[in-house]
Amino acid sequence: MVTGASGGLGMAISRELARRGAELVLTARREDLLATLAVETNGEVVVADLANRHDVDRLTEDATGCDAIVLNAGMGNDNELDEVTPEGIDQVIDVNLRAPIQMAVAFAQHKLAEHSPGRIVLVGSLSGIVATPNTRMYNATKFGLRGFALSLHQDLLGTSVAASLVAPGFIRDAGMFAENDIELPPGVRTKSPQDVALGVVTAIESAPPEVFVAPPELRAAAKFSSVLPGLSATIQRRAGVADRTSGR
Ligand SMILES: NC(=O)c1ccc[n+]([C@@H]2O[C@H](COP(=O)([O-])OP(=O)(O)OC[C@H]3O[C@@H](n4cnc5c(N)ncnc54)[C@H](OP(=O)(O)O)[C@@H]3O)[C@@H](O)[C@H]2O)c1
Repeated sequence: MVTGASGGLGMAISRELARRGAELVLTARREDLLATLAVETNGEVVVADLANRHDVDRLTEDATGCDAIVLNAGMGNDNELDEVTPEGIDQVIDVNLRAPIQMAVAFAQHKLAEHSPGRIVLVGSLSGIVATPNTRMYNATKFGLRGFALSLHQDLLGTSVAASLVAPGFIRDAGMFAENDIELPPGVRTKSPQDVALGVVTAIESAPPEVFVAPPELRAAAKFSSVLPGLSATIQRRAGVADRTSGR
């Protein structure tokens, strides 16, 4: 099962898994995009809104019948601070954090009870390590998802089930970053949707705690920021990161 299969990265992940012989369950809200992808990949479509608890319960039930779940769906756009509402906060937490947590936990419980193998891949972000201006809810949920995934990974060591986080940096050509038309500081390199798909394959095949899909210098910068967030904020301010991300 691939959540967020109608999106830029979800499509690339689904195509790569189908190319390798997977039988896919493709899920998201936009049925027309899923239907086209289903014809191409010979997959099954399940329409579900991850901000709707009934849909998440239904999808969680469906997921237990799969061998692997790729929890890739996510939403990125943060509002200006003065436009934030409690409903908006709930929606981002539901889609980016609550739904993948519920699905991963239920999937693991089911597979462990059955003594059957299972693979859980959670798609996080380098925004789960480094905070930037104007991305507060995205950062909050991706930091949370990383903590959940790395802890679950440890809980499942030595069992028939494994969990990994795939953490992309900036992805070109398709997906939320490419569509937002954000200008990167000079010298910052991107990766492709296919690189993310191959990261998901690595996670399924080798089950490491975390797979980064970003050039080495960006991974190093993210790790530096996690240790020295104050200095990171100063550097970002001098590089004009807030100006580049405004309008997201
Ligand atoms: N693109 C990047 O540069 C980048 C970098 C780091 C991490 N990521 C992560 O990669 C993942 C995929 O992102 P993307 O770039 O492919 O973004 P995208 O093109 O915007 O796709 C987002 C996907 O999530 C689904 N989704 C959003 N809200 C949903 C909801 N309420 N219920 C069900 N599905 C929902 C969308 O489907 P519907 O709209 O059809 O429901 C869509 O399939 C996300 O978790 C994102 O945070 C992306």
